[in-house]
Amino acid sequence: VAAELAAAPVGAGGRLPRLWLVTRGARSLAPDEVPDLAQAGVRGLARTLVLEHPALRTTLIDLDPEGHDGAYLPAELTAGQDDEVAWRGDTRRVARLTRAAARPHPAPRPMVRPGGGYIVTGGLSGVGLYTAGRLAAEGAGCVVLNARSAPDPQALAAIEHMRASGAHVLVVRGDIAEPGTAEHLVAQVAAGGYPLSGVVHSAMTLDDCLVADLDADRLNRVWRPKAAGAWRLHRATRDTALDWWVCYSSIASLIGGAGQANYASANAFVDSLAEWRAARGLPALSVNWGGWAQIGRARDLTHDAFPMMPPPEGMAALAELIGRGVRGAAAMRLDPEALVRTVPETTRSSFFRPIVDAVRSADDLGTDPQALRALPPERLREVVAERLRERIGQILGYRGADLSRRTALTRLGLDSLMAVKTKNAVLADFGVVVAVARLLQGISLGELEDRIVGELGGEPEPQTPPPAVARAQARAQARLSARTQQRRNR
Ligand SMILES: NC(=O)c1ccc[n+]([C@@H]2O[C@H](COP(=O)([O-])OP(=O)(O)OC[C@H]3O[C@@H](n4cnc5c(N)ncnc54)[C@H](OP(=O)(O)O)[C@@H]3O)[C@@H](O)[C@H]2O)c1
Repeated sequence: VAAELAAAPVGAGGRLPRLWLVTRGARSLAPDEVPDLAQAGVRGLARTLVLEHPALRTTLIDLDPEGHDGAYLPAELTAGQDDEVAWRGDTRRVARLTRAAARPHPAPRPMVRPGGGYIVTGGLSGVGLYTAGRLAAEGAGCVVLNARSAPDPQALAAIEHMRASGAHVLVVRGDIAEPGTAEHLVAQVAAGGYPLSGVVHSAMTLDDCLVADLDADRLNRVWRPKAAGAWRLHRATRDTALDWWVCYSSIASLIGGAGQANYASANAFVDSLAEWRAARGLPALSVNWGGWAQIGRARDLTHDAFPMMPPPEGMAALAELIGRGVRGAAAMRLDPEALVRTVPETTRSSFFRPIVDAVRSADDLGTDPQALRALPPERLREVVAERLRERIGQILGYRGADLSRRTALTRLGLDSLMAVKTKNAVLADFGVVVAVARLLQGISLGELEDRIVGELGGEPEPQTPPPAVARAQARAQARLSARTQQRRNR
């Protein structure tokens, strides 16, 4: 439905229809409120739609599980301005992204029980392998590492290191989404006589695509290890007295992930599963990680708004969260100014308001389309050209100054995800709707600039032909004048 709406023709007034996703009792708003897991993934989809298709103004409304809908729903649908709302009885709650306050707390309990047994799924690479190393270094008796493939040389070296610190390390290959694998991991810990003390679910697979291209296969591929795997681990360990049970989730489910609706929704499921377990008195924590530097899938990525987190910083955050006994939190580096600059869609989402408002009050980075329309034509073109060049440069990975005005953006590397980002940036910066299809049809920076200036009521730039065209035009003009002269002479 979301994909079809996003592809729908623009309606009256140049606006797309608004999309509401309505769940009932999907969220857990109190420590003892058990969320409905069947609806849990919708939140990741909703947050991703806010980023991929801001014009839809996707709004998530979670109704009271007891059905006390009252008279508020019609008002919500006609006048609601927030993009994430939950009603419980007559109380309206809205979701906002805020920094957790640093609270003084008693000394956190140590992460590792000396001699305890630990399971790490996805434990043969990336963040899982690093975590396992930390568990061994802190005195774990046994660490069982699970993945489908055999360990590579890097994993073998890390395992040797862990064994050298005294831990009994086992590799158990198998698909964590398949029945029996999780039980087998638990049995391996018990077989060595170790008390199972902690579980880290780090297994994952990615299959990125836009919501419009999502199908059941691509959803399933990403959901199986992450969500089905978490459920199997829950079933296999629910009767064991654990110190902690941790799912490695992602900021994709918290803030959305353009091109990652399947991943964001699978992570939203594990976030809810942790709340679901905690509400039933079971240990549970879901950590929405930002990108990790040096290890894991994101090690070669850079992001201005979410700078990568050095691994020791991630481990310190994990120890802190386990020590505090919270059931869910994000651990990420966030540069609010860069967020507003590089993900301008966030300026239109109430969820990001506390972060965006803090930036705006410090330094007004926003570009108000009404203010732009009031500018004199030359100044309007200057402002549009400068801002657009900077934005497109960020999206394509060029310095803005290096971008050609005449070359099709597709020839400069624009793909469909970049086209969506460009469309969203143009909407956020200038209030102008430009179709993704048009961007992918070979529009150049100069043509896009003309289009925006035109929409804002400015003059199209006088076209200066390129030198070769100008020479050809001059030659044609000269031939025409010569022929006219000859005719006159005859
Ligand atoms: N790296 C980051 O910056 C980052 C950021 C946010 C969240 N996270 C989360 O942190 C976790 C680890 O990320 P990563 O970057 O370290 O990932 P990674 O390097 O790709 O490791 C994923 C591991 O999961 C295993 N796996 C995949 N499917 C499996 C299955 N069905 N059964 C058992 N094992 C399976 C993989 O091995 P096989 O393919 O051999 O099975 C691999 O060992 C993930 O849950 C991810 O969502 C990471």
